[in-house]
Amino acid sequence: MNAGIIGTGHYVPDKIVTNADLEKIVDTNDEWIRTRTGIEERRIADESINTSDMAFLAAKNALEDANLNAEDLDLILVATVTPDTSFPSVACMIQDQLGATNAAAMDISAACSGFMYGVITAQQFIQTGAYKNILVVGAEKLSKVTDWSDRNTCVLFGDGAGAAIIGPVSEGKGILSFELGSDGSGGKYLLQDKEYISMNGREVFKFAVRQMPESSVHVVEKAGYNREDVDYLIPHQANIRIMEAARERLGISKEKMATSVKKYGNTSAASIPIALSEDVKNGKIKDNDLVVLVGFGGGLTWGAVALRW
Ligand code: ACO
Repeated sequence: MNAGIIGTGHYVPDKIVTNADLEKIVDTNDEWIRTRTGIEERRIADESINTSDMAFLAAKNALEDANLNAEDLDLILVATVTPDTSFPSVACMIQDQLGATNAAAMDISAACSGFMYGVITAQQFIQTGAYKNILVVGAEKLSKVTDWSDRNTCVLFGDGAGAAIIGPVSEGKGILSFELGSDGSGGKYLLQDKEYISMNGREVFKFAVRQMPESSVHVVEKAGYNREDVDYLIPHQANIRIMEAARERLGISKEKMATSVKKYGNTSAASIPIALSEDVKNGKIKDNDLVVLVGFGGGLTWGAVALRW
């Protein structure tokens, strides 16, 4: 049984924090942030909104899009590094909020690659025929682990949630190939150090600028296609320069790549499903397109899929 994405949804908080707003709290400027990262603004959740609240709203949206009821779900996977609590999981919290009475539920910890890990895990359950409808959510409230006095990191991150329903699809459609990987020796470059995110930006950049293009090419080739056959690329929305490296390696034009990093910054596990949901709804991803999703993140981890929409 082929597995594919049969519904998408997302939620971002209303509050916009611009680069100009950040100029008032740390020694930075709009020009630096734009040219080094491509970020113009990000969304930040209020005190009263936690990761599970955003995950719930994105999930509800995806269920509606797939035309399914919560009771139809067999499994809920939530990728997050900012759960409300270490347990119960965010997945269990939204299982209850949604009323998904027939679903198993667990969180996945693979940082910014978490959504990719979730999608590929879901694919295995569908392919074996064990489960039919699986909800995969990437949700983060990174603002609660951001040191707002550290200009090296606070300009990069944002809050939000994206969701996808993975289910059986017809022959030739859905996920065609995947790649997952990890390198724990690089864990020291990107971590939560006590309270806050701590990052060696240059090392993460070097890793990402090598890994994202490589993984993108691998999944396209594994699926039996050429790089130029890719109709749409959704790279993890961390930094426009890293994303451009993946796009250039595939040799596809600028319009064929998601760039929501501009509006939302890096939302870790939520970045790929938010971009996916937006770009399906605004018509950038069309029926039968060859789509590549590719992520990298703390761990270090990475993951990619090629799929026929
Ligand atoms: N405003 C102004 N200046 C700044 C800022 C800022 N916000 N942040 C750093 N600088 C300064 C630095 O202090 C440095 O000054 P110095 O030379 O006097 O020490 C200077 O800018 C240049 O720093 P570089 O590290 O050379 O800048 P670079 O071009 O590498 O860009 C960046 C930095 C944007 C962080 C880049 O390295 C990057 O994107 N790395 C990857 C980060 C990433 O993607 N992280 C998320 C991973 S996903 C996840 O799991 C959450």
